[in-house]
Amino acid sequence: MKLAILSRSPGAYSTHRLKSAALERGHQCKVLNTLRFAIDLAGDEPDLQFRGRQLSDYDAILPRIGASITYFGSAVVRQFEQMDVYTPITANGITNSRDKLRAIQILSRHEIGMPATAFVRDRKDVLPAIERVGGAPVVIKLLEGTQGIGVILAPDTKVAEAIIETLQSTRQNVLIQQFVAESKGRDVRALVVGDRVVAAMRRTAQGDEFRSNVHRGGSVEAVELDEEFASTAVASAQIMGLRVAGVDMLEGDDGPMVMEVNSSPGLEGIERATRLDVAGSIIDYAQEHVRFPELDIRQRLTVSRGYGVNEIHIPKGSAFVGQTIAGSELRQKDIVVLSLHRNKTVIPNPRDSRVLEADDRLLCFGKRESMKDLIPERRRRIRKRKVKKLDTEVNAPVAEG
Ligand SMILES: Nc1ncnc2c1ncn2[C@@H]1O[C@H](COP(=O)(O)OP(=O)(O)O)[C@@H](O)[C@H]1O
Ligand SMILES: [Mg+2]
Repeated sequence: MKLAILSRSPGAYSTHRLKSAALERGHQCKVLNTLRFAIDLAGDEPDLQFRGRQLSDYDAILPRIGASITYFGSAVVRQFEQMDVYTPITANGITNSRDKLRAIQILSRHEIGMPATAFVRDRKDVLPAIERVGGAPVVIKLLEGTQGIGVILAPDTKVAEAIIETLQSTRQNVLIQQFVAESKGRDVRALVVGDRVVAAMRRTAQGDEFRSNVHRGGSVEAVELDEEFASTAVASAQIMGLRVAGVDMLEGDDGPMVMEVNSSPGLEGIERATRLDVAGSIIDYAQEHVRFPELDIRQRLTVSRGYGVNEIHIPKGSAFVGQTIAGSELRQKDIVVLSLHRNKTVIPNPRDSRVLEADDRLLCFGKRESMKDLIPERRRRIRKRKVKKLDTEVNAPVAEG
């Protein structure tokens, strides 16, 4: 295959390792500076220029887009996607995961453990938000920080309020997060490639530092992940739209808590700690999937008028519970079940004989008109956690937004 690595630093460990792994396997491979592309939408077909000349044909790309060029970099990746060039790291995956708030918002629809998180703007909403995530100490984070910079532990409410106010006054958006103390300055980085974790390490913060980032002096050791951590990491990467990702998880009392998903995970720390050929796994994965360029199925399937993709939820007590898919007569209504989501598992192309259960979610493609009746009315929100009462009367009732 002919592969391009999009990177601004050809000499960096990760770029270098990916390139040599590709060459060792007999592929052609070039490192192209992301910032030297020009997106060309002037012709009949989407195109790309590189250093002022038309780009030659590539089969696959491996983007390594740094935080400082997210917008331009993801636009270049999207252009490759439009040109049907395979990428295990999609433009949506990059933008979804880069912003910590956006990532958590997307993951929160799924059964993925995460630290309780809040995002507010008005000063009056800060205190209730701190209480909602469990009260001080709380973690305050800049939305797009990396390497632990922009992650602060506020020991008490007063300090938390002051930090948030200061950051907001400089037009920084911050999120407020439950401090997962039981993780004790440690976290787990899982390197996901496709549908498995190919390497994992535990990072431990230095001294009384709570951030375990290597750039903050954290030390690393290889770990074997149990099934729960591994499946959480894989699911998080897939939900983000990333087939290659570094998933950071805290070790909470109730299992893994995902903090962030990295679309350009560094390979140096993890390869050194585990002595595994992570770069090689990434190249092998790209090679196996190069014939399957990412496509936006929702976009493609909704171009037929009157047809669309929808999720049908089977509530308790529904007539569908206990029926087989054939018995549900969805097909007769011109509805095809693409996949069935049950708890944490996904059953792709479920068979006609599959029996439906309460709380199943069916991803369907079909006639909008027939699906309309099957989509329940908007789900009422369940109030999960009451705002904890403070001992003073400052805690006015929180209005439903
Ligand atoms: N809610 C939290 N509870 C406990 N520790 C945390 C929490 N959030 C972050 N940390 C620590 O801080 C580190 C950096 O946080 P993270 O959200 O991954 O930001 P960055 O993008 O800067 O790495 C984590 O690796 C972890 O050690
Ligand atoms: Mg991190």
